[in-house]
Amino acid sequence: MARVIVVGTGIAGLITAYRASAHHDVVLVTKSELAESNTKYAQGGIAAVLFPDDTVASHVADTMRAGAGLCERDAVEVLCSEGPLRVRELIALGVEFDRINGELARGHEAAHSSRRVVHAGGDATGLAIEVALLRAVRALAVETYEYTFMRDLVMETNAYGVRRVTGIDVIAADGNSRVIDGDIVVIASGGAGQLYKHTTNPVVTTGDGVAAAYRAGAALADVEFYQFHPTSLAVPGNPLVSEAVRGEGATLIDEHGKRFMFDVHPDGELAPRDVVARGIAQAMERQGGRPIMLDATGLGSDYLAMRFPGITEVCQRHGFDWGTEPVPVTPAAHYWMGGIRTDISGRTSVYGLYAVGEAACTGVHGANRLASNSLLESLVFAWRAADALTEPQRAIEVEALEPQCEITGREPFTRDQLRELMWSHVGLERDATRLTEAGSILARWHADSTTVEGAENANLLDLARLVVVAALRREESRGAHERTDYPETRDELAFSTRWAAVNVAGD
Ligand code: SIN
Repeated sequence: MARVIVVGTGIAGLITAYRASAHHDVVLVTKSELAESNTKYAQGGIAAVLFPDDTVASHVADTMRAGAGLCERDAVEVLCSEGPLRVRELIALGVEFDRINGELARGHEAAHSSRRVVHAGGDATGLAIEVALLRAVRALAVETYEYTFMRDLVMETNAYGVRRVTGIDVIAADGNSRVIDGDIVVIASGGAGQLYKHTTNPVVTTGDGVAAAYRAGAALADVEFYQFHPTSLAVPGNPLVSEAVRGEGATLIDEHGKRFMFDVHPDGELAPRDVVARGIAQAMERQGGRPIMLDATGLGSDYLAMRFPGITEVCQRHGFDWGTEPVPVTPAAHYWMGGIRTDISGRTSVYGLYAVGEAACTGVHGANRLASNSLLESLVFAWRAADALTEPQRAIEVEALEPQCEITGREPFTRDQLRELMWSHVGLERDATRLTEAGSILARWHADSTTVEGAENANLLDLARLVVVAALRREESRGAHERTDYPETRDELAFSTRWAAVNVAGD
């Protein structure tokens, strides 16, 4: 029996804790309250092959196509073939997916060739999953620490010269620093949407686990690929307006009332997410930066209130009646395809360290994640990682580049400055001039990590520098990474790039 520290309490962390607690002492750590995570805000649903007219092969094909040449087939096959069983496990754990006449209701989202997205509470799938998993985990003997911020991994080199994790260094709920010891650490702390001025993610998404793993020497992969969701409501906080709304027939129109997406892609509003996000950004540019409109009026007020109660409520709160009028939308950072490089069982390149969920890069998303594959990835690979904890530990071998981030200065900065810079220089469209300028500004900044907020800023700064280096190096356009100075996709660059710091934090 090992002592396993799980950092993060979204679907990936809770599944790991739930499953691992059968064999290990589990310690669950979150910097906020247990229920707060990106998972809680997931709307559209979870994609899986659950219906007789659908096939694993077509889910694999859709996922590979969306990933623009960078998905790893073995990982995608695991995702799509184990997904249905895992979704049934969620149902057994008490997640009540929506049904019509007793059968699971089937949602549709962009770039899926079949209606295979199951949802709960209309547009509250993540919340339903979070509530059910918290109930399941609370019934187990799991040691839990809320408001406990992981500042760094604690590392040691043992008598055999193996560098390994021995715990985490935290700022505890009382504000004091302490170390929580563990044999294994599983990072499940999500992505880093707070890198960007506009994001659908909650404020907790500051990439803490990815940054700590990177400082400890773990290889990261695909960090240049940040997915921008096409439709967040154009109000402060950018609440998500699910792709499922377009899946049900809502359209996108510019300020002249023109439905412009068919000029961009034959699939119109249901083109892959990166294509729609850029189509909207370009349409906004043509109209002086003003948001474009999502027209869901054709679906009718009653249907919208029934199928999308959460979005209906958010629209009302902001003074919009989306049953009778189009609402303003804008792209926003949504999901990080990059993260801590893992194998298909969550192992990383550091001994004793595992990663699951959005913090991990398993290879299933490639350059652009297919809608509603993220809850599925967390579920499938967290389950596998928890099972792998009972096997002899090993680290994976990863060939990685050294990032060479320029770091010159000690200028303080604000989080808003960083988010603004990333949005304007490292956002939906990039070029060498803006990336280089962003790199030299980031090089001058410094964050003091003695407080939680300072440590979060330091994490965002480390990750921003790395995203810039990776985005500069990828001299092509592929999936979510669009270089206006290299508009073509280059076959010779159809590989994932991995990065590892060489001068890592000491033991
Ligand atoms: C959405 O509901 O549009 C988000 C689903 C996802 O990001 O997969």
